[in-house]
Parts: sequence; C-alpha cells; structure tokens
Amino acid sequence: MEQELDSSLPCWKHLVSAILAMEPSQCLISHAMACGGGSITHHVQQFISDHCLSTPGDFHAPYLKNFLKKLITHLEFNHASVLDQLYELYAHYIASFQYDSLGNRDARICKRISFLSPDGCSELLSCPNSRVLVFPLQCSLNMLEGDTGCSIWPSSLFLSELILSRPELFSNKSCFEIGSGVGLVGLCLAHVKASKVILSDGDLSTLANMKNNLELNHLNVETDMLQRSKDSSMVKCLYLPWESASESQLQDIMPDVILGADVIYDPVCLPHLVRVLAILLNQINLEFYRQCASCKDLSPNIKHENGEHNHRDAVDRSDGRCKAIYNDASTSGSKEAPVAYIAYVIRNIETLNYFLSLVEKANLNIVDVTDSLKPVNLLPYMQSYNQTSVKLLRITCSNIQSD
Ligand SMILES: C[S@@+](CC[C@H](N)C(=O)[O-])C[C@H]1O[C@@H](n2cnc3c(N)ncnc32)[C@H](O)[C@@H]1O
Repeated sequence: MEQELDSSLPCWKHLVSAILAMEPSQCLISHAMACGGGSITHHVQQFISDHCLSTPGDFHAPYLKNFLKKLITHLEFNHASVLDQLYELYAHYIASFQYDSLGNRDARICKRISFLSPDGCSELLSCPNSRVLVFPLQCSLNMLEGDTGCSIWPSSLFLSELILSRPELFSNKSCFEIGSGVGLVGLCLAHVKASKVILSDGDLSTLANMKNNLELNHLNVETDMLQRSKDSSMVKCLYLPWESASESQLQDIMPDVILGADVIYDPVCLPHLVRVLAILLNQINLEFYRQCASCKDLSPNIKHENGEHNHRDAVDRSDGRCKAIYNDASTSGSKEAPVAYIAYVIRNIETLNYFLSLVEKANLNIVDVTDSLKPVNLLPYMQSYNQTSVKLLRITCSNIQSD
C-alpha cells in the first residue's frame, strides 16, 4: 500500500514553486519524483492535480498541457498507473487549446518567481505562515530578437538573491539599476526598503513591460525624475539609453548603489555603459571618453579585495565597505561613496575583457566579490538557474579607501 507522504517537506514546495516559475517539464518531473521518494506515486499525482494544475485562469495553458503530456508519458513509460484525473485534464487541454503557443515567438507569459527562505521550506504555499516571497512577472518566451529585456536573465536572479540575503547593503539606500529588463531586481529592492528605487532601460517595449510588472506587484510607478515622492512603494522607471544619457541627467540621479545584471554583452554599447558608470560613480574623465572609440589596449586585471592585482579567476574573501574621500565641496568630512554591483555570466571572454579594460582606463576600482558576497540560495527549485555561473563585480571610484 502507498505510504502517506509528509507534504511539509521542502520537495513539495520546490515542486509548486517550479511550476509557478514555469521551469522545464523535466525539472518538474524530477521534483515530483523527489516528493514520492523516487517515483511519482498516486499521492504525488493527486497533489499535482489538486495544487499545481488547478491554478488561476491566467496560467499559461500550453505550458501545463505540455507538462501533463510529459508527465503521463513518463508514468506510462515506467509502467506506473496514472490517475484518471490526469488523463481527463489532459483531454480537456487538448480540446480547449488547439494551438500550442509555446511555439509562438511573440507570446507573453506570466512566471511567478518564488524566493524560498532556507529555513522556511516546511510549509506549503497555501499556508499563511509559509516563508516565501512570490513575484509575478510578465516575460517573453523569446529571449532574443528584440525581446532581450523581457526575459529573466540569470544575473538578475543572482542580484535578487543578493538583495534578499544581504538587505543591509541596500536598505535605506538610494538604488539605481541600469538595463533593468523585467524589473525583478527593483521588486527586491523595494521589498528590502531601499530609500529610493530607480529602474531604467534603453528599450521602450522593455520599459513598458517593466512598468506593467511593477504594477502587477502593487508598486506605484513614476516616470518623472524631477517629481519628489515620499511614497515608499513608488518606483521610478526611466528611459535611459546609455549612448544618449546626459551627464546632467545622470548627476540628477546620484544614487548610493548602482546595479546592473547581464549588461555586459554588446561590445558596441560598452564604452557608453562605462561612461554612465563613471559619471554615476563620480569619476568623469571626458577626455578619455572622447578617445574611447579608438581604445584598443585590452589587457586589464581585476583587483581583488586583498589588494593584490590578481587575474580574473582569482578568489577574494573579504567584505570591506568603502568610504570615499570625496571632492565634494558640499560635504564636510567623509561620506560613503557610491558603489556599483555588476553581475554577469561569461559568454564571450573578449567582450568581458573589453569591459574590464574600459573600466580600468576610466580609473575605476574593480573588485571581484563573487565569493565574499555569495548570496544564500533562495531558488533551490530552479534547475534552469545555476548560481555558480554568475560572477559579481563591485566597482567604485578610485579615490576611495577601504575601512
Ligand atoms: C540581457 S538583458 C538583462 C535584463 C535584466 N537586467 C536581467 O538580468 O534579467 C540586457 C538589458 O539591458 C538593456 N540594454 C541593452 N543595451 C542598452 C543600452 N545601450 N542602453 C540601455 N539599456 C540597454 C536591454 O534592453 C535589456 O533590458
């Protein structure tokens, strides 16, 4: 006889979270097997039918249909008996949704990203005490061809985990993100109570989708930089292509923290991106940027927090905060300098090296803090995301000293 399983175990929460985040079917099947102790028992099938497939109407039906098909195929292949309910549900999906819009390149879907607290995996989503943070996000199924910013990239998952696991770095700080995409990082910043959250992107359709996502998550969106608001749920969204962002526009923002996730990929944009960072970090060397287009010397090293000039793959362990000795006439004494956190996945080493060379030539400090600021794994169910594939740089202006 099938044993009654303990549905308070983390694997159940992982299964639900993976479905909500629209993880690939194979990932769902492996979570379902973990719930059943190695096989997808009747009890697990019943749970899937009751808790995972009876989702709100806006859930992407072709996704569920595809999962059901893979699930039934898996069960039949393994000679397991399949609950009638699953067959009936699959028949319903076949009859209701003739065309599988998973193949439709323009399709928008709503993923729900759940951040699970490591010690809070003992309750299911339906339980009010469940320690889980869920953000619905409208995304595109098509990562490329103009919809780059409407997909969730791994570095924004990494930065989100960082914000939620190290809130002290962002709470009560004015935070500004470049190339914000779907807006997930902004939602996390608002959650940890950053004093100001300003998101930006250089693509108008991405910006529209971002605003939609902020509203979906009950945040108020403001587009006017000059408007000063005390509303803590207010997030500003700016159209800010790096190429045309003016010095005065950037100086108006003057954030404490600058964030960027997966923004290092197009060599053509990199001089502009670094110019934006340099201005925001208060390091302007206009002459350098006039010559930037002809920069050919690409041989930088990342300076590590131990002070050594190591090569890129070296590991650093310290977590020192920085204080600026600012050339700011309006401030007496020292104040904390702005800091930029740039998360990236290495896809093309030459592009990364180009970025690093530009940062070094702009006379900015760059430190690899991937290990010292390693976030807690809050997305343990997400097999499509590998936290270790993401690197984190901390960039500051060069006239600062570590505490
Ligand atoms: C790979 S996506 C990353 C999106 C988001 N940060 C994430 O990690 O999910 C790069 C983002 O940078 C934006 N972007 C690319 N080039 C830009 C530019 N020159 N100026 C402003 N934004 C740009 C894109 O529109 C897109 O939203």
